[in-house]
Amino acid sequence: MIVSGSASQSFAAALAGVTGRDLAAVEFERFPDGEVMASVPGFDADRAVVVASTVSGDAHLECLQLQDAVREAGASEVTTVLPYMGYARQDEAFDAGEPVSARAVARAISSGTDRILTVNPHEEAVCDFFDVPAEPVDAAGRLAEPLPADLADPLFLSPDEGAIELAATVRDAYGAGETDHFVKERDYDTGEVTVEPSDAAVANRDVVLADDIVATGSTMSESIVHLHDREVARVFVTCVHPMLAGNARTKLARAGVAAVYGTDTVERPVSAVSAAPAVAERL
Ligand code: R5P
Repeated sequence: MIVSGSASQSFAAALAGVTGRDLAAVEFERFPDGEVMASVPGFDADRAVVVASTVSGDAHLECLQLQDAVREAGASEVTTVLPYMGYARQDEAFDAGEPVSARAVARAISSGTDRILTVNPHEEAVCDFFDVPAEPVDAAGRLAEPLPADLADPLFLSPDEGAIELAATVRDAYGAGETDHFVKERDYDTGEVTVEPSDAAVANRDVVLADDIVATGSTMSESIVHLHDREVARVFVTCVHPMLAGNARTKLARAGVAAVYGTDTVERPVSAVSAAPAVAERL
């Protein structure tokens, strides 16, 4: 039986559809002191799949509560699916006194489950932070689906070298085009992002930017501006996790993006494709 956190209801419904498993009725409450409670009143199954993108502190709590609720109701096997794993980018202590937040949340989530699946974590090594078997699921190929069929001499670009494989996966799924990457630097004090364009010719070509996540949108909007300076045709932004915090969507529009496409690991208006089939294959 599939049990959904409040931030992953579309993903969980898609997963239930693909797998043919039942979708549990869940209830979400908030108490006057601000505490949340996620419950599954009618849960009655031996195997539970808790699906919760940990997009916020409350979503983390809901995940732990749902794991506990299904155990309390008698589940003997609990798989936890984190379509988006929050805090995964805090995978190192950069300065003295800082936590490794990804490890801290991984340990907490491990305590209520037998197994973890997480979609395109920022670094696959975060899976090692869990105390139970944890596997990454690659859903990047699905990002080719909403792209127009008539891309002109397409170039699939990642904003940094780390995401070049992801760009190649999108290109392979699209079936045509070259790949390349920018070189990115971020000032961690100001949050400012600078990107060095690649040498690839972009004039009059359609470019598909591909990354694991769009958070503040700074990386992508900087990249788009560089491309328009070099007379690109259209620029499409694709990402697995369309977090789009704050004014990110506006930044992309002002930079001149043709369209933004993401998956439903983070449920947003741009979530054009579901990552659920990729997870279903691994359940
Ligand atoms: C970093 O290496 C990631 O792959 C993304 O490029 C980054 O997290 C995007 O962040 P933002 O949208 O805030 O620039």
